[in-house]
Amino acid sequence: MDVIEAVRRRRATKAFDPDHKIPEETKRVLLETSALAPSAYNIQHWRVVDVQDPGIREGIREVAWGQAQVTDASLLLVLCADLDAWQEKPQRYWATAPQPVQDFLLPKLDEYYRGKPQVARDEAMRSLGLFGMTVMLVAQELGYDSCPMDGFDFDAVARIVGLPGQYTMGYMIAIGKGIGTDWERNRIPVADWVVKNHF
Ligand SMILES: Cc1cc2nc3c(=O)[nH]c(=O)nc-3n(C[C@H](O)[C@H](O)[C@H](O)COP(=O)(O)O)c2cc1C
Repeated sequence: MDVIEAVRRRRATKAFDPDHKIPEETKRVLLETSALAPSAYNIQHWRVVDVQDPGIREGIREVAWGQAQVTDASLLLVLCADLDAWQEKPQRYWATAPQPVQDFLLPKLDEYYRGKPQVARDEAMRSLGLFGMTVMLVAQELGYDSCPMDGFDFDAVARIVGLPGQYTMGYMIAIGKGIGTDWERNRIPVADWVVKNHF
């Protein structure tokens, strides 16, 4: 386990080798491992568009400030969430839990989400954040660089990928072999953001 190393090495990569093709097996490991990320109620709201078509990539780049990662990365994943996932055969989310746990959680889930679109959206975004970070760290472990991206016109990308009405879009992640170097990393001191006991 070398999580600290993966965290340290990950950078928001701006330039990728446009000729590198990610092997299908590597992609499978990346996606399957990333799905081990936690999600609220284990709903696994993430719905990921794997944009392979070069023409569609070009179209997205045009509405993403021309950012080269969109077309040059080996993988472009658009991370979306299904806001109705909580009510889509929810039994499957705890199929391996003991029956009393299932009996407790199913009505709780309904109570938690029904009629509360903001709750559904907040939970989806939390889960997408954790999922995306997992994607980037697993990619690092597999020898790939990545870039999380929300510098794009959300409505335009939603149209391009045909986002269904009950879905929301979180951000994109470009993954590939980074070329060139980024500028030095910069973080504000821990003391500027840790608060002892209360604000
Ligand atoms: C939600 C989100 C959106 C981002 N959007 C972009 C983007 O559109 N283009 C880009 O080059 N970097 C983007 N970044 C990367 C950040 O600029 C980068 O993570 C930050 O500057 C710190 O650099 P580091 O990740 O290399 O440590 C985004 C990061 C996050 C978390």
